[in-house]
Amino acid sequence: MSLDNITLKTYEHGYAIYAESVKLRTGILLAPLGRSETVSEYDFPEKDIYLGAFLGESLIATLVLTPLNDKRIRMRQLAVGENFRNIGIGKALVKRSEAIARDLGFATMTLHARESALAFYDQLGYRRCGERFVEVDLPHWVMEKSLL
Ligand SMILES: CC(C)(COP(=O)(O)OP(=O)(O)OC[C@H]1O[C@@H](n2cnc3c(N)ncnc32)[C@H](O)[C@@H]1OP(=O)(O)O)[C@@H](O)C(=O)NCCC(=O)NCCS
Repeated sequence: MSLDNITLKTYEHGYAIYAESVKLRTGILLAPLGRSETVSEYDFPEKDIYLGAFLGESLIATLVLTPLNDKRIRMRQLAVGENFRNIGIGKALVKRSEAIARDLGFATMTLHARESALAFYDQLGYRRCGERFVEVDLPHWVMEKSLL
């Protein structure tokens, strides 16, 4: 599998791909923790930007951007399908989401990193700020990167 076969594009809330993304994100981010909610409960359809990685027509990875105010935007729910990890898809989604945010005029990207993913974000230029906290039963850190 190579990145050359993968396309990145945004998709809309409420359509078939969105439903697929809820299944993919819930299966990767919540179900393994034994949690019963679906990720759609954390979405903000009126302001979210949904970005996906596609192999043909299939959604294989996804990420959500949620504007917080005029300057700050939050990257959420990065999830790469288990069979597609470690070939650069996560990194490509993060970089594309930064480009989208920059084009929209946002100055800072912020995120809640699971402790297990700190090194992944660190090598993409994100820096820890604040204290360790617990979210969906896991230790997390706020991380930020300037888009300027
Ligand atoms: C974390 C995750 C998004 C990484 O996506 P991925 O597509 O496998 O990562 P990439 O292939 O783009 O990796 C980019 C680089 O980060 C490294 N990397 C990947 N996952 C890592 C991790 N968990 N910790 C440290 N480094 C990691 C890779 O080795 C690669 O390094 P390189 O550029 O030196 O070769 C993916 O493993 C995933 O979906 N995990 C489960 C859900 C999750 O934890 N999401 C993040 C919640 S905050």
